[in-house]
Amino acid sequence: MDISVSSGSPEKVKTGILAVGVFVDGALTGAAKAIDAAAGGKLAAKLKRGDLEENAGATLMLHDLPGVAAERVLLVSLGKREDFGDRTVREALTSGARVLAASNAADAVVCMADGEMAGRSLASRVQLAARVLADGAYKFDAPRAKKSTKVRGVKKVTLLVAGKVDKALEAAAKNGAAIAEGMALTKDLGNLGGNVCNPGYLATTAKALGKEFKFKVEVLERADMEKLGMGSLLSVGRASYSPCKFIIMKYDGGAKGAKPVVLVGKGITFDTGGISLKPGALLDEMKYDMCGAGSVIGVFKTLARLKLPLNVVGLVPAVENMPGGNASRPGDVVTSMSGITVEILNTDAEGRLILNDALTYAERFDPACVIDIATLTGACVVALGAHASGLLANDDALAAELLKCGIDAGDRAWQLPLWEEYMSQLKSNFADMSNLGGPPGGAITAGLFLSKFAKKYRWAHLDIAGTSSVGGDAKGATGRPVPLLAQFLIERSAAAAT
Ligand code: BES
Ligand code: MN
Ligand code: ZN
Repeated sequence: MDISVSSGSPEKVKTGILAVGVFVDGALTGAAKAIDAAAGGKLAAKLKRGDLEENAGATLMLHDLPGVAAERVLLVSLGKREDFGDRTVREALTSGARVLAASNAADAVVCMADGEMAGRSLASRVQLAARVLADGAYKFDAPRAKKSTKVRGVKKVTLLVAGKVDKALEAAAKNGAAIAEGMALTKDLGNLGGNVCNPGYLATTAKALGKEFKFKVEVLERADMEKLGMGSLLSVGRASYSPCKFIIMKYDGGAKGAKPVVLVGKGITFDTGGISLKPGALLDEMKYDMCGAGSVIGVFKTLARLKLPLNVVGLVPAVENMPGGNASRPGDVVTSMSGITVEILNTDAEGRLILNDALTYAERFDPACVIDIATLTGACVVALGAHASGLLANDDALAAELLKCGIDAGDRAWQLPLWEEYMSQLKSNFADMSNLGGPPGGAITAGLFLSKFAKKYRWAHLDIAGTSSVGGDAKGATGRPVPLLAQFLIERSAAAAT
């Protein structure tokens, strides 16, 4: 998708669809007012008649409005003026994007709403709009017997602002488009079945990306991991026919010697639960258990596309969790790369068993900070649902930074306590700790388990079990938390540049 920012009079732009947000209360303002004036009051008349529903995100397509150069005018409800804010804007953008993606117009011009928004600059709104609109055009290229020949959806979007376009707005549009591009890769990896997207596929994808954007990618094989002592990671992959891979991506855009940000993504390409087998309902959705890995690979695409002046390392332990004659059993004790021994009480708590070795491996990079991203617990979904990723951290400043980036990027997280009190739930009679904390505070005990392997650096953990995919009719990967991670990297590069 081609996205740019421009200024001009909305009623005069020639385009397939002119999208404009309208508040459902009070007089028309901004672009809506200008369009209405050109159309001799026809827009206001339709609104007065109640043709546009009130809830933010409701849409109404008008064709051939007199006095307006655009072929169609898409009205998008911004809801009531007093509710104007992140939520209503996101709803308006998301449903506007849906209409643009289904339309057969070639291009669209989207008027940026004229209302002021607390805590959000115009540049930040432009970035959000660019990201949501470009992401709305995502379609999974499903393998079907008959390829559809009609490709619908606008290919080009111009964001129309009232004032003049400066460098900051141009950069914002570029950032938004690059974030959506990263998300598309993350979604593709998530949406592919586990038979295709296995550990080897993740490795091949990372390598191809590295080749395209000229960053280093190295893949460790089982023998390498054995030598490193990654007994915990390897225990999870024992029964799979797809060999475990450990993917290392190195993007050196920053100053030589500047400490890297290390991103670690859980790459369980399918989670059956292992011998602690999961029930059958919705088991297909466990193909999404590599979405942490997918988001790391995806944000590397964004990072490289934007040529951010930062050093970043991506680590992806890629493993399939299968039952089988060679599988780990409950009661097995494994030795992790750190030396800490773990009693596996449930083979379905496998994410922490691969992440711990990756976190130990991360030490060698002398990181500025380490962020792991994982579809780690069902308990996190119970706690926070689908709207916020769970955040746990051993450093308050890093946690605050991530929370803020989540708000700015429209991809929020919510912090849970990393209190030592919960540690008693991970006690084992047969090893240093067990991998199972029981139902109370399950997302917290999982994070606490990981924290024991992240003592040598600033660390944060994002549990994306509830945010990285959606079920039901719209089943699919969401591309989250690429926007949050990208925002973090963009802001860290801006800080590094000053
Ligand atoms: N991959 C799952 C977590 C998950 C659940 C992700 C639902 C997305 C949706 C993870 O490996 C898992 O099975 N966790 C267990 C942990 C338990 C055995 C301590 C869980 O959440 O039930
Ligand atoms: Mn599991
Ligand atoms: Zn899992």
